[in-house]
Amino acid sequence: MLDIKTFKSEVVIESPGRINLIGEHIDYNGGHVLPAAMDKKITLSFRKNNSNTCEVLSSNFKSSFKVDLDKLERSEIEWQNFILGVLFHVNVLKPDSFNGFDCIIESNLPLGSGISSSAALECGIAKGINELFDIGLTDIEIIKLSRDAEHTFVGTKCGIMDQFAVVKGKKDNLILLNCETLDYELIEADFNPYVVVLLNSNVSHSLASSEYNVRRDECDTALAAIQKKHPYYQFLTEVPAKVVKEFEKVLPEKIYNRALYVTQENKRTLKAVELLKNNDLKGFGGCLYKSHHGLQHLYEVSCKELDFLVEQTKGLDYVIGSRMMGGGFGGCTINIVHKDKVDELIENVSAAYEEKHNIQLTSIITTISDGVKRI
Ligand code: GLA
Repeated sequence: MLDIKTFKSEVVIESPGRINLIGEHIDYNGGHVLPAAMDKKITLSFRKNNSNTCEVLSSNFKSSFKVDLDKLERSEIEWQNFILGVLFHVNVLKPDSFNGFDCIIESNLPLGSGISSSAALECGIAKGINELFDIGLTDIEIIKLSRDAEHTFVGTKCGIMDQFAVVKGKKDNLILLNCETLDYELIEADFNPYVVVLLNSNVSHSLASSEYNVRRDECDTALAAIQKKHPYYQFLTEVPAKVVKEFEKVLPEKIYNRALYVTQENKRTLKAVELLKNNDLKGFGGCLYKSHHGLQHLYEVSCKELDFLVEQTKGLDYVIGSRMMGGGFGGCTINIVHKDKVDELIENVSAAYEEKHNIQLTSIITTISDGVKRI
């Protein structure tokens, strides 16, 4: 096994997790999202080993694996697939562009928390071998091949938001990303006197990946039905709410609700950005509460623990917005909290959460950082 203490790195990469202020389950529907890279990171150290084999050690899992580069296949062990998938797709895009290497991964990103430790790992591996072997991959290639790795090796049909935020993140900025064109605008993340606090429910329901793919299929079903009458809409996010409403009696209720949420959330994201630009922080926070309501009741990707955490913040004048973040079924809520009241919030919500759910809450006070980089 590789030895962390004696390992001599040639390339060291830091790859951040991501937050998302608003625009949830919108990326694969071609709409707008508002993510950013965060200060919690995975650190990956690389060295060439002059062979055709890669050895990768995860210090968190205290486990390692070796793989022959001529035999890149899916593994039974999930975390290995994030890496194997990236190597496979780099090889598809740039055949024979890299050889054997050793890599040590150290992470301070909690897993299954909705902050995309998966995209951080994928993009960190891609960036690392790109630097180590001077492969010449562009940022967009790293973003897309990392997403493809998750589709083919991990099996989650994720959108592009996480990988985009991990690679393109800019300190103190949010990314308003158009997920259809990949055009983006950086928006100053100035919430003063408020700060962004993540409350981690510390639950991760096994439904997360399977239900994620089901939601994608439900959105496709809704779009296909709408396109029969309105063939010019290419994405669900392009369909105005009033057109979706024409289908209330036509579509099964669940499918209708999914479509309604998607069109509302995309519009809400653009409105939230306008409010932020006009320094209307309370208005911005209000959009987060509405987003959670839609995720809970129409898109149905929340869970009782997340709903409880959001509910606890309602009526507190020092919290202006709260909602579940990421794919759902567990993980974190994102909260906009007055900077002087963060400790009070954490103390109160932790006690109530433990009493109700018998689970310890953890929290992360987030600062917005740069994307994946060599250090
Ligand atoms: C996960 C996926 C993203 C996105 C979010 C929900 O994090 O990886 O592509 O769909 O869920 O917004």
